[in-house]
Amino acid sequence: MNEVLNNIYTRRSIRKFTDQAVPKDLVDEVVKAGAHAPSGKNMQTYRFFIMQKEESILALQEVVAKGMENPSYTFYGTKALVIVTCNKEDVNGVEDGSCALENMMLAAHSLGLGSCWINQLKYCGDKPEVAAYLDKIGLPEGRRVVGMLALGYAADAGTEHKRIEGLVTYLD
Ligand SMILES: Cc1cc2nc3c(=O)[nH]c(=O)nc-3n(C[C@H](O)[C@H](O)[C@H](O)COP(=O)(O)O)c2cc1C
Repeated sequence: MNEVLNNIYTRRSIRKFTDQAVPKDLVDEVVKAGAHAPSGKNMQTYRFFIMQKEESILALQEVVAKGMENPSYTFYGTKALVIVTCNKEDVNGVEDGSCALENMMLAAHSLGLGSCWINQLKYCGDKPEVAAYLDKIGLPEGRRVVGMLALGYAADAGTEHKRIEGLVTYLD
């Protein structure tokens, strides 16, 4: 099987990470792959905000936990976090950002890293107290959070999910 297909078929969402930090050059490569995602009309509407300091990641985790009213909420002990945003006005912003997230997940896997899409900031990012925090840490005004990527060295293998029946129909 060719390497690209093998990478697609063997990627898993990883929700447990080792304590090992992710080298900056690997983070750079993963985010570069995200920035090479296709985008509607080549507008490249995705923007990437990266956190690598543990205290910053934990502080955001606490803000999201409060925003979700779920005190036990975690980012799975991720060693690096990539927040993907677009502008609220971008017609294809969510689609573009989703392509970027998938590119990053596949790039991470190909580089021996585990990753997981984390959604919750998308839901609570417009709550006033969460939005104020995002303003404070430097996310641009008018943003829409598409999703976040947890990134690190996998501490477990993830789970292989069988494909459900009937996903594909060939039409005449
Ligand atoms: C749009 C989207 C949102 C997701 N949000 C979360 C999330 O908030 N937390 C999480 O642990 N996984 C999240 N995931 C990962 C999915 O749960 C995961 O892709 C799915 O269970 C299939 O597992 P796999 O990625 O290992 O194939 C998300 C995935 C997508 C595509």
